[in-house]
Amino acid sequence: MTTFTVSTASTQDISVQATAGQSLMEALRDNGFEDIQAFCGGGCSCATCHVVVNPDWFAKLPPVSDDEQDLLESIEGRLATSRLACQIPLCDELEGMAIMIPPAV
Ligand code: FES
Repeated sequence: MTTFTVSTASTQDISVQATAGQSLMEALRDNGFEDIQAFCGGGCSCATCHVVVNPDWFAKLPPVSDDEQDLLESIEGRLATSRLACQIPLCDELEGMAIMIPPAV
């Protein structure tokens, strides 16, 4: 199990527990974060699972694929530590990670 914290436009540092094998997108969706629409279901084709990762954790994430990079470049308001949550498998190394869900543009 991986525990991480989530901030949104209206909340700060909500602790979320993911079950083994979940992606960050799946954990957010299952915990009721409605701004994570994830229309493509994790297929890396919709960009509606955009999150901003705390810089302290960003370097610990798996590399960005070409497909993810293309989608990230299409997001208005993208930041240097933006990622698509469906492309982040949760694991023990990410225990304590902090992310922010940006407001929908
Ligand atoms: S859920 Fe569609 S790109 Fe992540």
